Amino acid sequence: MKKFIASVMFALSASLMVVANTASANEEGVELEHADVDIHNQASLQRGVKYFVNYCMGCHSLNFSRYNRVAKDLGLTDEQVTKNLIFTRDANGDLEKAGSLMKNGISQKDAAEWFGAPPPDLTLVGRSQTDWIYSYLKAFYVDPTRPMGVNNTVFPNVGMPHVLWDLQGQQEKECVKEGEGGHAVEHCELKLVKPGSMTPAEYDQTARDITNFLAYVGEPSKLSRKTYGVFTLLFLGLFAVVAYFLKKEYWKDVH
Ligand code: HEC
Repeated sequence: MKKFIASVMFALSASLMVVANTASANEEGVELEHADVDIHNQASLQRGVKYFVNYCMGCHSLNFSRYNRVAKDLGLTDEQVTKNLIFTRDANGDLEKAGSLMKNGISQKDAAEWFGAPPPDLTLVGRSQTDWIYSYLKAFYVDPTRPMGVNNTVFPNVGMPHVLWDLQGQQEKECVKEGEGGHAVEHCELKLVKPGSMTPAEYDQTARDITNFLAYVGEPSKLSRKTYGVFTLLFLGLFAVVAYFLKKEYWKDVH
């Protein structure tokens, strides 16, 4: 029996190790970079939402998120929201209200026709895939064979254009073969061939801010969960004191 338990434990830990090892590379075998997001960094979230509504919401919705909730969590005023965040219009052609859901600008059907694939809703992608999103935003490169003129090492043959190219500039993929014949392995790297308006470090920060915002949007309650935890423990502590004195009161005549 002991042996059986030991082998089960061994199999479990071995499979966990496999999971841990593959977590840093995606299905294409591309190494993902660490996004290092911090949803408690409010300045980063504020920059992230600004980039998101300007560069992403034309195509992608956040259908489970409302403008005013985001504004409250990120410390933005009502005026900042209506002036800087809301660009999409409702069915009557009026700008969306602060309490509206964060819908996208184009219809799924049109988008699917134009890009070969519908842009998915992004409310939940940031829950688990932050490294993937961050790496993806950095992995576009020029590829004239693709309809949008770009390809992506993290998401090969992606339908999405490189919407941040004016910030990042243009990258090209350069590959060198190492070894000979059947053993040759190709190493590819992305090189910045035409700079954008940002330095590479600034662009990394922008990609991180957008990823951070998506991480927050995927689970807004994360922001307040820790505070609840502290209050819960304080309450339990206080309650223990009360219970102690109550016990003393009940038992005082028994002894
Ligand atoms: C012009 C339209 C358009 C814009 C603007 C756009 N995207 Fe996309 N995006 C797409 C399309 C189309 C896909 C689906 C690609 C496919 O399946 O080939 C996609 C896919 C994605 C995915 C993969 C989602 C998944 O679960 O597979 C992520 C993440 C993403 N986009 C993030 C962004 C971010 C962040 C921005 C803003 C910086 C942005 N997109 C701007 C069209 C767009």
